[in-house]
Amino acid sequence: MSAQLLGVEREQGICVLRLSRPEKLNAISAAMECALGEALASDAVRTSACVVVSGEGRAFSAGADIGEFEDRSPEDVLRYYRETGGVYEELAALPQPTIAAIHGYCLGGALELALALDFRIADETAVFGFPEVGLGILASSGGVHRATRLLGPARAKELMLLGERFGAEEARAAGVVTEVVPAGQALPRALKLAQRLAALPPDAVTVTKQAIDAAAHSPREAALLIERLAYAALAQTQAAREAASGFGR
Ligand code: COA
Repeated sequence: MSAQLLGVEREQGICVLRLSRPEKLNAISAAMECALGEALASDAVRTSACVVVSGEGRAFSAGADIGEFEDRSPEDVLRYYRETGGVYEELAALPQPTIAAIHGYCLGGALELALALDFRIADETAVFGFPEVGLGILASSGGVHRATRLLGPARAKELMLLGERFGAEEARAAGVVTEVVPAGQALPRALKLAQRLAALPPDAVTVTKQAIDAAAHSPREAALLIERLAYAALAQTQAAREAASGFGR
């Protein structure tokens, strides 16, 4: 069942994961999270240089499957995070760069999923929002933490407490997305970016990504030490030696 909820395509070292439940606007069910988890463990993802996530049909995704919200005991919720709800953190921890290609609705859990990725490219049809508070809950797949880090507490409170929807340009102005492209161009643009990233020295890309993630959560001294030690390791790689010798030293 899970294979039908997620398309996994691999081309030239790039893996595209396509949320595929278009009749429900790609609402993210536990089964879809399970499919995502399986995909992340697959060779198609593990050996890829870059991972792109997109949605099939008229939306990236309308968020968590609201039909699964009812009647969850505390035990059910704890089990959920043990079983499939951790997949957002698994995505965030991928060593290679990740890109969300967003069109149409990107709400709630879908926005949390996109925030777990490194880049967010939206086409001009994109509509964002955090409807959780209006539903009596909160964004709890890393969304509160990531939105606060990315946007600052005041903006995060505005977007999460009021829950108003906002478009692609507003998302860019707020720093939610890195780029806005014409309708229908989010995936092609994401693939272009992925190709550029895939052509770079992979160890330098991964270590820089991880150093940035660590820097975002570390005191200055620790972050500086990480980057210096990371430099010491990267400078010894064949890619770094070849690049340096290319300048005729
Ligand atoms: N969970 C479960 N099903 C969802 C869903 C969600 N988050 N979002 C959409 N769907 C389903 C609808 O129930 C509908 O199913 P049906 O045809 O069997 O009735 C189908 O997807 C299409 O949605 P519909 O509401 O008819 O499309 P629309 O264009 O009129 O409205 C939205 C789109 C996104 C505004 C509306 O679907 C919506 O508000 N969804 C909920 C968004 C949300 O709160 N997400 C956050 C959850 S944390």
